[in-house]
Amino acid sequence: MRYGTGMAASPRFNPLLRAGKPQGMASSAVGTAAPVFRPGLEGVPATQSAICDIDGLQGKLTYRGYEVGSLATNSSFLETAYLLIWGELPTAAELQAFESEVQMHRRVSFRIRDMMKSFPSGGHPMDALQASAASLGLFYSRRALDSPDYIAAAVVRLIAKIPTMVAAFQLIRKGQDPIQPRDDLAYAANFLYMLTEREPDPLAARIFDACLILHAEHSLNASTFSARVTASTLTDPYAVVASAVGTLAGPLHGGANEDVLEMLEQIGTEDQVEPWLDRAIAQKQKIMGFGHREYKVKDPRAVILQKLAEELFDQFGHDPLYDLARKLESVAAERLGPKGIYPNVDFYSGLVYRKLGIPEDLFTPLFAIARTAGWLAHWKEQLGANRIYRPTQIYTGHAERQWVPQGAR
Ligand code: SDX
Repeated sequence: MRYGTGMAASPRFNPLLRAGKPQGMASSAVGTAAPVFRPGLEGVPATQSAICDIDGLQGKLTYRGYEVGSLATNSSFLETAYLLIWGELPTAAELQAFESEVQMHRRVSFRIRDMMKSFPSGGHPMDALQASAASLGLFYSRRALDSPDYIAAAVVRLIAKIPTMVAAFQLIRKGQDPIQPRDDLAYAANFLYMLTEREPDPLAARIFDACLILHAEHSLNASTFSARVTASTLTDPYAVVASAVGTLAGPLHGGANEDVLEMLEQIGTEDQVEPWLDRAIAQKQKIMGFGHREYKVKDPRAVILQKLAEELFDQFGHDPLYDLARKLESVAAERLGPKGIYPNVDFYSGLVYRKLGIPEDLFTPLFAIARTAGWLAHWKEQLGANRIYRPTQIYTGHAERQWVPQGAR
């Protein structure tokens, strides 16, 4: 493998250049072409990837060719993580080896727990997670990006420790000591146990595991792009994940799952849905949990999450916020549907987590636990054909001007 040397197979197609300009030009010539600016890089392919595919018109999502709904029904999160990162479904022996490796690395150093104890208890758990993920780089500082063993060990460590760190901060901020993982519990059940100090109901654990699968990967979303940009500098994988956690936290991205419940609570009752939505649209307010750059139909993950929410309600009791959410979805379909704006992954996930008894400000950290698998798959893929990300810009500032001494300003 060659790292940091440019890649022979890199695509030379540059969509930022106007049609008609020759492609594959030398870097000195790139500066002379008139570039087109696309805000948010909409429609601009920034990488090639074999990990995940989205059909935004049909509402289809596949991981390594497998439809996400069939993975949510038949697979486990760790098996799906293996598939995403290593490219193929594991054999029984491979899966067992991966699961036991992850299980062995779940614990985090007492020094990381002590560091978390010094965090402000009122701080957001995503900030605590970003700092804790970055701190792993201090403990595992030997970097060998060209070693498959190093990559495999980092993958296991991050997938194993991120949930432990999320659960630890939850207990620490309540003034308690974190509890140790339980080796007899599978990944999702163990996380819920570390969070709530109770062994979860098997249905709750299965549904939470399915949620992790649904959130594990989604092509070049903002946090994964951030992960790939960070990876392309050949820094360590802990910095890659920490940068992605910071990017996921924003309300336009993963942070929206927390805001959806707040929005539903603010709407209050079903009869308020229509006037609230009309007001919000008139004020050009973004409806949280709606809209997507890629999907012009309902996000397939939202369809599945809605069914999972209903399964939970059947078993553990109804949530009236769900009726409100459905009413909002149907009114929004009339008002926003013609623009291709429908529920995204964040719309129903919060209702599932709420039924599982998870506090609202942990919803985005749960997304991060799952998405760590996708970020690591992209980290590994980026290293396999690396070239540092260094796009260009269109300068809009002053032409060169003369220095003005302080007294003359
Ligand atoms: C995730 O990319 C991924 O893959 C992300 C994700 C993943 O798995 O990683 O799927 C997870 O981040 C889901 C998205 C969570 N965010 C929200 O729910 C916040 C609300 N949604 C939006 O702000 C918005 O739809 C985005 C951020 C999701 C997408 O933004 P775009 O593609 O930049 O679209 P835009 O903001 O430029 O909007 C285009 C038009 C505008 O109208 P016009 O000015 O053209 O008339 O659509 C309107 C927008 O006003 N619009 C909305 C809307 N989303 C878009 N109008 C009301 N409510 C909305 N939610």
